[in-house]
Amino acid sequence: MDLFETLYRRKSVRHYTGKGPTDEQLEIILKAAYASPVVSGRFADMHVTVIKRKEILEAIEENASKATGVRSHPLYGAPVLILVSVHPKEETPSNSEYSSAAMVVHNMALAATALGLGSCDIWGSLRLANERDQLVKMYELPQGFVACCGVIIGETDEDFPVRDIPEEKIKTKILE
Ligand SMILES: Cc1cc2nc3c(=O)[nH]c(=O)nc-3n(C[C@H](O)[C@H](O)[C@H](O)COP(=O)(O)O)c2cc1C
Repeated sequence: MDLFETLYRRKSVRHYTGKGPTDEQLEIILKAAYASPVVSGRFADMHVTVIKRKEILEAIEENASKATGVRSHPLYGAPVLILVSVHPKEETPSNSEYSSAAMVVHNMALAATALGLGSCDIWGSLRLANERDQLVKMYELPQGFVACCGVIIGETDEDFPVRDIPEEKIKTKILE
């Protein structure tokens, strides 16, 4: 799939069969993560955690349900969550550090699309998870790292048609 086809086919997938990426596919997805730009080239301050452990995926969902008071499945039954964390310079991650994590996530989502796998960016339930020390401990992050965001990936029954991208889907002004 060429880059533009991948861009136009990518979509957030919220239905999964339960089957995860193969080891080979995971390797390609992780390579896409490593190809991402990050602020000031601080790759040592970034960390990727591939979470296949059901206990952790369930704990994230359970926590989100408790925090919102609504029973929900914010990871949509996906078999894998790839979490991106940063070692912030200050106490909490800055805009550029958070953005770097987002870039890494997006590269992985695009790679998943190119491989015919479903993916969806995950922010909300991970923000809620960060409020629970016990849950954060399950990530086994290196000292000083903060979980920012992630992407769920897995096989889906959904198709990936080339999507119509309307002109000015994002209001745009050209200054000449
Ligand atoms: C920063 C960011 C955070 C997001 N967080 C979530 C999330 O927590 N859960 C979710 O289901 N989708 C999440 N999404 C997916 C968006 O809802 C989705 O990208 C948007 O509705 C456009 O749909 P599309 O991805 O199919 O083009 C997030 C997307 C971005 C860029």
